[in-house]
Amino acid sequence: MINLNIEKTLGFISKEKVFAYEAQAKAAQEALENGTGKGNDFLGWLHLPSSITKEHLADLKATAQTLRDNCEVVVVAGIGGSYLGARAVIEALSDSFTWLHDKKTAPVILYAGHNIGEDYLYELTRYLADKKFGVINISKSGTTTETALAFRLLKKQCEDQRGKDMAKKVIVAITDAKKGAARVTADNEGYKSFIIPDNVGGRFSVLTPVGLLPIAVAGFDIDKLVAGATVMEKACGKDVPFAQNPAAIYAATRNELYRNGKKIEILVNFNPKLHYVSEWWKQLYGESEGKENKGIFPAAVDFSTDLHSMGQWIQEGERTIYETVISVEKTNHKLEVPTDAQNLDGLNFLAGKRVDEVNKMAELGTQLAHVDGGVPNIRIVIPALNEESIGGLLYFFEKACGISGYILGVNPFDQPGVEAYKKNMFALLNKPGYEEESKAIRARL
Ligand code: PA5
Repeated sequence: MINLNIEKTLGFISKEKVFAYEAQAKAAQEALENGTGKGNDFLGWLHLPSSITKEHLADLKATAQTLRDNCEVVVVAGIGGSYLGARAVIEALSDSFTWLHDKKTAPVILYAGHNIGEDYLYELTRYLADKKFGVINISKSGTTTETALAFRLLKKQCEDQRGKDMAKKVIVAITDAKKGAARVTADNEGYKSFIIPDNVGGRFSVLTPVGLLPIAVAGFDIDKLVAGATVMEKACGKDVPFAQNPAAIYAATRNELYRNGKKIEILVNFNPKLHYVSEWWKQLYGESEGKENKGIFPAAVDFSTDLHSMGQWIQEGERTIYETVISVEKTNHKLEVPTDAQNLDGLNFLAGKRVDEVNKMAELGTQLAHVDGGVPNIRIVIPALNEESIGGLLYFFEKACGISGYILGVNPFDQPGVEAYKKNMFALLNKPGYEEESKAIRARL
């Protein structure tokens, strides 16, 4: 389902050194399996694909159908792990254009609660003013300010526009089983709700209702997504020999690159639909590994677009980077370059070739140029953009992240650092309970 190739890192690090991680990768896998490593109360994602039941999927699909039947637009309210997985899959699989106007095939999916932009929220509420819309409110803690604020606006608008009874039908909550404001609201208002398991952290939650419900509403096959992830769960299992386990090899390679001064990993795609897969990946690796003053900085580019902006830096800037390229083997559509009698643009040498052939040559040419320029290159090939391969890719990255974090020696499943800004923001906003912090922070201004 995926083909991992590290050959183009081997001028920079040696195969022997990568394979020397075998014991560490095995220990990491065992710690994950046995729950003996750091953050072991957040391992619910590990065997999630193979444990999802048909009944659970049916419940999700039925709820998705209710939203599809009653909404032209569905707003997914969430941030970080409570939004990026759904957006990654939906954007990877969606037609780039028809979703804007073809409301017959599926509701338009929009996003809120992932920023505090007044103009963004104003424009969203204005856009929704004449739409039959619903909301999926996603928050594990149920108290995240960005999401709660957006949901407050959307709930009121939905009730005002569509009436309390319809609002009840088209607002769905995905949150903790018992605690948090989102749970209290859902229970009080009688919303349909799904539970985010305690032992699955936000950035590992794409295969819980957090990702699966919005993806199903958007019209994609969550059975196939989960099936793809399940295949990958087996392919990256603890008993798969190191050399054949793509998650272990990826984890080992990136750790060896890091130890050799490659502090920045750039995830590269040659398909604009993968932009949000990169955003999801950035969170997964950034939040999992960036701690204790350690960790590879995860960056991302969309090629060939960014070859015309970041390409210069990558080719000739500081040599602290390596690239991981996600290559999609087959496109879903065919388009050939037409012949032009006048050939004023000089492109007739491409006439009759598939656009994807041009793209693939850009990909190959870039790989060779960047390797020549001192940038090690890992290549991950997926067969196509479809539910199975995306499900597999996401699980592959999750598993590799768990192994890689343990090899690095950190707890890949916590995120203590994200609290610092919240504390300051609450103090500055005079949130009740933050009186001392308020005084202290104002003294610093
Ligand atoms: O991965 C994480 O834990 C975070 O990105 C959270 O998902 C994010 O902060 C949103 O939190 P919550 O779902 O509690 O609103």
